[in-house]
Amino acid sequence: MSRGLFITFEGPEGGGKTTQIHRLVDSLRSQGRDVLPLREPGGTTIGEKIRALLLDLAESPMQIETEALLFLAARRELVQDRILPALQAGRIVICDRFADATLAYQGYGRGMDLAALKALNAFATVGLQPDLTLLLDLPVESGLQRRKMDPADWNRFDAASLAFHQQVRQGYLALAGAEPGRWRVIDAARAADVVAVDVWRAVGEVLAVI
Ligand code: TYD
Repeated sequence: MSRGLFITFEGPEGGGKTTQIHRLVDSLRSQGRDVLPLREPGGTTIGEKIRALLLDLAESPMQIETEALLFLAARRELVQDRILPALQAGRIVICDRFADATLAYQGYGRGMDLAALKALNAFATVGLQPDLTLLLDLPVESGLQRRKMDPADWNRFDAASLAFHQQVRQGYLALAGAEPGRWRVIDAARAADVVAVDVWRAVGEVLAVI
């Protein structure tokens, strides 16, 4: 591979992205592939500091524009420091959320202008787009219920209203519908083993054509 593969996972809260990413990384590594798992916001020294600011319950409220710009600043660091060098080295980069999360959360969820956010994303990512985006979709109520089982992980976004999370979910579905070539929508309300089969199939299809 001269250029690697860039896969992102998206979805509303509690869809089991972390579990599925672990499983996918293990499966790919057992095939001898070179995989770099990353998460947003975070993954760099600056990015982890921004993450703490963004997710801390005590930091709220902040201007929605400030929130968006902080996500974008963390993304810029991640793209330049980690993602682009790894892709240039032919690695498979798997990112837990990426630019689409800003469109879903700050755009559809918080109501910021989508065209402006798309332009900001292009600026922050130098136009980098995932080769494949997996949407782990499930009803908002069941996702939040799952998240509540792990109170240590409960953050500012989980604490937002049900209506907010419903807009985020609908936003993701709209984004996936608008770009079916890049997105695969996976029903994440099912058992993790069953979801993992669909994830593996979707990644296999992309690996087969590179
Ligand atoms: P995290 O604990 O990583 O949650 P999850 O496991 O659901 O990804 O927290 C990330 C939170 O930040 C999550 O609620 C989604 C939100 N977020 C945005 O609002 N905008 C963004 O651009 C990104 C990347 C995340």
